[in-house]
This record gives sequence, structure tokens and C-alpha cells, in this order.
Amino acid sequence: MSVKGKNILLGISGGIGSFKACELLRLFVKAEAHVRVVMTEAAQHFITPLTFQSLGAEEVSLDVFDPKPYSLEHVAWSDWANILVIAPCTANVIGKLANGIADEVLSTQAIAYAGPILIAPAMNVKMYNNKAVQRNITYLKSTGVHFIGPETGALASLITASGRMSEPGTIFARARQILLGRNDLKGQHVVVSAGPTREPLDPVRYISNYSSGKMGYALADAASAFGAEVTLVSGPVELAPPPGVNVVRVETALQMQDEIDKACAGADYLFMAAAVADFRPASYQKQKIKRSGESLNLTLQANPDILKSLQKNRPRKVIGFALEVENLEARAHDKLRDKRLDMIVANNPSEEGIGFGSDFNRITIIPRGGKTVRTERLPKYELAIKIIEEAINLSHAQPVPQIQPGAPGRHVPQIQRGRARGGRTYKRRP
Ligand code: CTP
Repeated sequence: MSVKGKNILLGISGGIGSFKACELLRLFVKAEAHVRVVMTEAAQHFITPLTFQSLGAEEVSLDVFDPKPYSLEHVAWSDWANILVIAPCTANVIGKLANGIADEVLSTQAIAYAGPILIAPAMNVKMYNNKAVQRNITYLKSTGVHFIGPETGALASLITASGRMSEPGTIFARARQILLGRNDLKGQHVVVSAGPTREPLDPVRYISNYSSGKMGYALADAASAFGAEVTLVSGPVELAPPPGVNVVRVETALQMQDEIDKACAGADYLFMAAAVADFRPASYQKQKIKRSGESLNLTLQANPDILKSLQKNRPRKVIGFALEVENLEARAHDKLRDKRLDMIVANNPSEEGIGFGSDFNRITIIPRGGKTVRTERLPKYELAIKIIEEAINLSHAQPVPQIQPGAPGRHVPQIQRGRARGGRTYKRRP
């Protein structure tokens, strides 16, 4: 996908996130798009027009009464642009757009603009949660304005909360998608699973894993941007639900299996990105387990393999994920075969700077009977787009293989498998 030759109107309003708009501009310029920048007065307190000019903006507009950029008409740029991207977008500019106020250069251009608008909000969390701001966002969404973020992370005030502008790569990917009008999944139902499961041990403890759910949420968001009706079956995570996605929340693997089975009735795709706990405590203790002695033995019982046990509600295309810290591709191929998948996406969470909790990942996509794709380190939203594109392109030339009784399994040490059936025993060390 390319945005080569497209006209991008980049609106910058007053927020510290405006420094990230420099990188966003670079991404558009690198992709050979034409970029014009519109800055509010507040934005100019944070960053100078010269910065954007130096980075490749063809023109920078600062004032409604600046005659140069507008030729004869003060809103001429809005006829020129293929998309208006406002990043960062403050509560103030959101409020103006929602209420038809045009009292400075950016809101004037925006209100005169009839094409697609992408807004990347950035503000203090208290402002973001303000009821009037939320009402304005809801209203703009209902008129077709696209939003991306904000993300949860360290804000300018150094507290960690929702309000941080999305990463430039993520905004770029979304803008590209809107520009190219991808509607490939229109009318299709996509089910995505995300996050960890929690397997309760007693009223205050559970067994779980480090999954943040970011990859699954990015997939749900991207599938929705491709026009799909999306159901996201989510384990417990700290992420805001993607707009327009139906979220079903679960805790345990058994609940996840149940909800996935229901959601998959009539579905076209399943992206099984959840990190399902393979084992649960064999028994739940109604009372908090008391400390006694220097060790504690826990008996665990295997959870069902949700992918493997998909039966009558199996969607047309089933995509699994593989977390591997060694022999990545060989093991992913085994899981592809063993779980009768159409495609598998493998990654190694132990590589530095990617995987669990990170906004980035590096993945290997293996379609059944197709060509393996190995990506560089990219933001998860961009990877989600790639994964969906590969899934759309999957041909069904090869039928889903049937499990042969007694067929060889995967590269799993026999001793683990044997123990797994009878319950695995863990010992807490003193
Ligand atoms: N999966 C599943 N049900 C489980 C465990 C995993 O449906 N009980 C799915 C995951 O969502 C993923 C794929 O199977 O799409 C592979 O998961 P992974 O954790 O990599 O492998 P496991 O099958 O659990 O095998 P192992 O942990 O031994 O590598």
C-alpha cells in the first residue's frame, strides 16, 4: 500500500505531542506524499513552523489572514487535501469541530473540509474524561470522523494514564488505510481473541501470564477499519476498547472457549491472539490458602486447546499465533499443522524491545501452503494490517487437514505431554 502522490493536510494544535508530529510528517514525506501543515497559535508555542518546513512540508499556514496559502479563497487547502490529519488534537479543537466553530486557521480549514478526517487526541487524562469532551468525540465519530488513540502511557505530567497521542507510525498506518478506502472485509464477521486468561486458585490469587492484549486489540481495530463487524473476546487487560468493536470480556480459559464458540457461529475469520493459560488449578479453594510450612504443591489441570477443539462453528479462515523462544519457525509449522490452521503468526517475546507489553513486535507470518513473510520491528497496529492483508489473500486451494488418529504431534518433550494429562505439579520454593 502506498500514499505516493496523495495530498495530506496535517493540522497541529497546541500540545506537547506536537514534537511527534515531526516524525509523522517525515513518514508521509518518505512515502512521497505532498504535505501541507496548518498550525494553531497554541501549537506555535511548542514548535516552530520552520521545523516542519525543514522536514519537508511544502507549505505551512499559521493565520487565516495570511494571503499566500489560500490564493483567493481562505479555505482553498481543504479542496486540495485527500485527508486531514490532526495530530495532536486538543480538547479545544475537538470542541470546535463538533460545534461548527471556525475562529482560527485550523478549525476554519477543518470545518470547510468535506473529505476524511483523522484525529489523534492528546491531552491531560482529566480533560479527556470530561463529559463534554467525550460527548464531542462521540458526536464527531457519529459523523464519520476517524479517531486514533489516545494511548495509555506517561503523559507530560509524568503520570501514567490515558491521553497520550498515538505513535506516529500508528497514525500514519491508519491514515494510509483511510486514504486507500480499504473495505475488503465489509459484510464479514471477524472474531478476535486477546489478552491473557486468569485461572483462579483462591479468592485472592490466580495463575496468568504477561500478555498485554495489545496485538489482539490492534487486530480488532484494524479489522474494523477494513470494514468488518468485529467481536473481540478479551481476557483481563488495561486497554480501551477499539471504537466500533463489540467487546466480550472473560476471565478464564473455559469462559473464553465458551464465548469464542458463540461468537464464531457464522463468522468468517478467527484471529486467536489470546495467550490462553494452558493449565488451571485442579481445584479452587473457597478460602484464602494460608501459609503453612516451607513449600506448597499445586496440582494443575490442562485447559482445553480452544483452537484445536473448534468444531461446528469453525469460521472460514482460522488464524493462530505462536509464542516461541526457540526454533520459532519449525515450532510454528508444527502448530499450524497440529491445530489445522489456515495461517499462523509467530513471534519470540524474549527478543528485546518487542513482544509482551511493547507497542512493537517482529513477526513471521506462515500461511498454509503459502509464502512465509518475515517482518521488521514495527508498531503492532501496522503488523495488524499486514496480518489482515495476508489473511484476506489466503487462498483455500488446500483443504484443512483432518487429524489422523495417532499422528505424530509437535516438538513437545514427551515427558511434558505425559505429565500434562494427569495434571502438572508445581512446587513453591521457600
Ligand atoms: N491456544 C488455544 N488454547 C489453548 C492454548 C493456546 O486456542 N489452551 C491458541 C493460542 O491462542 C494461539 C495458539 O493456540 O493462537 C498457540 O498458542 P501457544 O501459547 O503458542 O502454544 P500452545 O498451543 O499453548 O503450546 P505451547 O505452550 O506448548 O507452546
